[in-house]
Amino acid sequence: MAVEPLIPPETVPPPPTKAVYGGFAYFKGAIVPFGEANVSIGTHALNYGTACFEGIRGYWNPEHQEIYLLKLAEHYQRFLKSTALLKIKLEENVERLCELTREIVRRDGYRTDVYVRPIAYKSSAMIKVDLHSSENAVAIFAMPMGAYSPIDGLRVTISSWRRISDNSIPARAKITGAYINTALATEDANAAGYDDCLMLTEDGHIAEGSAANFFMVQGRSLITPPVTDDILVGITRAAVMRLALDFELDVVERSIDRTEVYQADEAFLCGTGVQVAPIVEVDGRPVGSGRPGTITLGLQEAYFRAVRGADPRYRQWCTPVYGGIPRIT
Ligand SMILES: Cc1ncc(COP(=O)(O)O)c(C=O)c1O
Repeated sequence: MAVEPLIPPETVPPPPTKAVYGGFAYFKGAIVPFGEANVSIGTHALNYGTACFEGIRGYWNPEHQEIYLLKLAEHYQRFLKSTALLKIKLEENVERLCELTREIVRRDGYRTDVYVRPIAYKSSAMIKVDLHSSENAVAIFAMPMGAYSPIDGLRVTISSWRRISDNSIPARAKITGAYINTALATEDANAAGYDDCLMLTEDGHIAEGSAANFFMVQGRSLITPPVTDDILVGITRAAVMRLALDFELDVVERSIDRTEVYQADEAFLCGTGVQVAPIVEVDGRPVGSGRPGTITLGLQEAYFRAVRGADPRYRQWCTPVYGGIPRIT
């Protein structure tokens, strides 16, 4: 089953490998030109990774002439849980962060798919490594961004790097410093010729992809690691689990052995960045037929319709940027 993109792929810019930022940013309590949003090299977060972030997609719908920000409030709810873990206190609440995000994308004026990056950080120039710094800051900026990685079939390997465990650096918070774990694993996977990798928990179960959640299909069951297996509790994961109900699939959260993946009927990664990306090969072994599976493609198609505001049942996932929004002055 081929998935018809709602807008032709050539109109969607690829992920930036270099900074292509422009437009506006929320910085030090105001919306300013992106180039004016700069931090000191002494910033605690820059030195020690004491920051947390989100990645939020906005999908352009040419028929509606609208960008829909996907699950905006859910991202900021998770953001504030991450900030609480790092003892970063912000003045902005979820509602305010959502309003600011819409305003930045609106002022940027994009008419394409976008990616929004909120980041909250320890902003003092302090040498001591703890979480007591009195100064905290939050910034938000956006950029155009299309598909982040292939959505027509990923070749992955099992990484030799283990996923960070809850008692070292909790994966359930989106902490900047923790993404060294992702970078090490992705670097090795790409250098070995793979598109991505799966990462194991310290006790050898599948945790997730380098920056995405993992699902496998066995018969009519959609199986994914539980939230206690060192995963980021993904917002796309929850969306996929909801869509699975429409396909009358059994959704099972349980630990997954490595070799179960080799024997799965289908497998895929999902996340804000990768969207819903079928896995066709693991460590040189085809997954199922070696082509994207029908259940995966069905979920992928349903996901793309929902996120562009094309499925009225999931319109509540989509926050419009341009329509009927009060201006922030
Ligand atoms: C480590 C990790 N796991 C999973 C995900 C997927 O989470 P979400 O669907 O909320 O983007 C991400 C982010 O995209 C991630 O960085």
